[in-house]
Order: sequence, then structure tokens, then C-alpha cells
Amino acid sequence: MGADLQEVLVSEEAIHARLGELAREIWRDYQGKDLLLVGVLKGAVLVMADLMRALPGSAPMDWMAISSYGSGTKSSGVVRILKDLDTDITAKDVLIVEDIVDSGLTLSWIMANLASRRAASVQVCALLRKPDAAKVEVPVRYVGFEIPNEFVVGYGLDYGEHYRNLRCVATLAPHVYR
Ligand code: PRP
Repeated sequence: MGADLQEVLVSEEAIHARLGELAREIWRDYQGKDLLLVGVLKGAVLVMADLMRALPGSAPMDWMAISSYGSGTKSSGVVRILKDLDTDITAKDVLIVEDIVDSGLTLSWIMANLASRRAASVQVCALLRKPDAAKVEVPVRYVGFEIPNEFVVGYGLDYGEHYRNLRCVATLAPHVYR
């Protein structure tokens, strides 16, 4: 897989160290609250697995699968729910766990959707954010790393469903997508 990569943007060690910090911060902030971790398939699988294991105590998780449609691009902001939550989130303190906030359109829709279900609170933890790609400002309470507006893969992020299992976050070598 290494020959397909151009540059490592965030190493495996840096990811785990940062997720450990975020987990401690989250645990402190949610004391006395009814925390529910909500992952968005599929990219968030790895972040969820490592973030929740870094929490000092127990917290439940649930998952949503969504699909953007309407414009032909993946982040149209028009979203269809493919798999909804199993949990009634009324009065729960929901923390959405994401791999990346790119344009922000997906997250903006999810936050509005979950808030409309009378959750007590809806916040976001995202491993990566691309500030220069934002089309809509989304309040992301917990951010792992801000990265440049480049196409990245690894640690849940894919190119044609590949590279999600890479342990770091990296840019792809041009020969892969040209
Ligand atoms: C990615 C990522 C976010 C979204 C961010 O998901 O997991 O959900 O894109 O993009 P945005 O900020 O521009 O809306 P994707 O649709 O690629 O699905 P995946 O998680 O299955 O890879």
C-alpha cells in the first residue's frame, strides 16, 4: 500500500495520542450527562473504535448510514437515511463521531436532523477538518487535526472503497488516480 501514497499527513502515533486527549476531554465534559456516541458509516468506524476505547468509562454507541444525492456530487447536502439510529435520542446528549468534515454539508444536515428529535444536546467530534473546504460553518466541538484541502485517504477515509484500513492519514500518489 505504501507505494500508492504520496505523503503521510497524520501518523498513526499522532492519531492515537490526539484521540486519547479528546477522549479525556469528552469524558470530563459529559460527566452527569446521558452521552450517546453516534457514528456515521462508513468512514467513522475506525475513529469510533479507537475513541471509545480511549474513554475512561463506558458509553453506548449507535450508527447511522446516509447517502447524499441530488447533485451528483457526494456532498450535495441533500441527504437520505439508509440506516437510522436504533436508539430513541430524546433527552440524550448526542456526540456525533466523524472521520472528516469537508464541505460541512453532511454534518450540517445530520446535526439538524438529530436536534429535531429533541436530543438534549448534539455536538460533534471529528478526527479531521478541512477549514479551506467549508461551504457551511458547522460547530465542531472536538477536532483532532486541521488539514489542507487535499484528497486524503486512510484511517476510515477511502478512494473507491480502498485504503480505509491504512493506519495513518495520507495523500495518494498521482499514479493511483490519474
Ligand atoms: C465522508 C465523511 C463525512 C462526509 C464529509 O463520507 O465520512 O460523512 O464525507 O463530507 P462533507 O463535509 O463535504 O459533507 P462519505 O460520503 O465519503 O461516505 P463514507 O463515510 O462511507 O466514506
